[in-house]
Amino acid sequence: MSTDSELPGTYYPGLEGVISNETAITNLEGRKGDGDLEYRGYRIEDLAEHVSYEEAAYLLLHGELPNAGQLAEFDSRLRSQRQIPGELIDLLRHIPREAHSMDVLRTSLSVISHFDPEVNAISTDHAANVRKAERIVAKTATAVAARERLLAGQEPLAPDASLSHAGNFLYMATGKKPSASMTRAFDLSLVLYAEHELNASTFAARVTVSTLSDIYSGIVAAVGTLKGPLHGGANEEAWKVLVEVGSPDNAEHWIQDALATKKRIMGFGHRVYKTGDPRARILKVWCRKLADEIGEDKWEKIAEPIEREVTAQKKLPPNVDWPTARLYHYMGLETDVYTPIFALARVAGWSAHIIEQLDSNRLMRPRARYTGPANRPVKPIQERR
Ligand code: SDX
Repeated sequence: MSTDSELPGTYYPGLEGVISNETAITNLEGRKGDGDLEYRGYRIEDLAEHVSYEEAAYLLLHGELPNAGQLAEFDSRLRSQRQIPGELIDLLRHIPREAHSMDVLRTSLSVISHFDPEVNAISTDHAANVRKAERIVAKTATAVAARERLLAGQEPLAPDASLSHAGNFLYMATGKKPSASMTRAFDLSLVLYAEHELNASTFAARVTVSTLSDIYSGIVAAVGTLKGPLHGGANEEAWKVLVEVGSPDNAEHWIQDALATKKRIMGFGHRVYKTGDPRARILKVWCRKLADEIGEDKWEKIAEPIEREVTAQKKLPPNVDWPTARLYHYMGLETDVYTPIFALARVAGWSAHIIEQLDSNRLMRPRARYTGPANRPVKPIQERR
């Protein structure tokens, strides 16, 4: 057995509480401490109220909120680069229906990289990385929507340059021009999903490019990481919880049984937030608004007692994935697109962290504490039993 004295440092399972990087992008403990999320010093509550996803993405990639001229130019660059390669659409037609939507997104981003004119630029070229990041932000939404249309037996729709990023995704994914409130709610969810410090997928992206690999490799690593149900996959799982409960009359019984059997309830808890996820509080208000708009309050009546009991009995408030499940249902989106939506928003945050890492890089290479057998002689094959 190895002992601590043989290795420097301390072992922190799951890297819990470990500071592995410095960043100027996001602060999870702003002015008020736990749960006071800030992007580049702006409180998430203020950003949620005042900025679009385009403005949030610009803030993350360029470090400042854009003025009107900067926003117009950035928005024009995004709109003009939304199209994805025809070769990708052809490939999407052949990918089996049952392929997981995050696996397909992982493939789509890899294909998009092959057609990026700067894919082979030196990985530390800041300006090239920002241009690639803008193309990734513009194209990821189109790739996700194209797959959704093919799954629905429909032809992928070309991006509509007259629509915002949020409105254009809803149009390309559903074939319908969304209402103003649906567009506003979706845009807000993208702002809230856009970035979140060193979560597992962002950490994966930073580790990947810390070898001086490229931004696309970092993004693909992040997509694979976000897929997991402990991370981005939780929004799809949270919807399954609501469907499993089925009716408001069953909610109380279901949650008491789930707590009694120590069931892990998707959409609740957080590695960092202990007093609640500010994004969940903001989105809960919009869930109610959209439920009222479509005249279906069943899901709010199911969610409420579950939220109340898990928070009260387990001291585990809901995280961002709990309300987004209902929000996307109200927009008529299929559950398999919930996590890809998380990804198409988070590509801005992933890209910002990748660029920050590559601007001032140090290879990330932690150690492991050895717990296996030691000092064993190799026996010739004829003596091995
Ligand atoms: C995201 O990190 C980020 O910033 C991520 C994210 C982002 O924007 O990038 O915020 C997005 O990933 C949000 C989290 C989405 N995941 C889920 O909703 C999955 C369900 N949640 C859990 O699996 C859990 O809460 C985690 C993974 C989110 C956090 O897990 P930790 O910090 O490793 O905590 P743990 O698993 O060690 O649990 C501590 C205790 C345990 O009880 P005991 O065994 O000590 O008695 O809390 C319990 C757990 O059983 N617990 C839960 C629970 N989460 C923790 N019990 C029931 N239901 C849950 N959801």
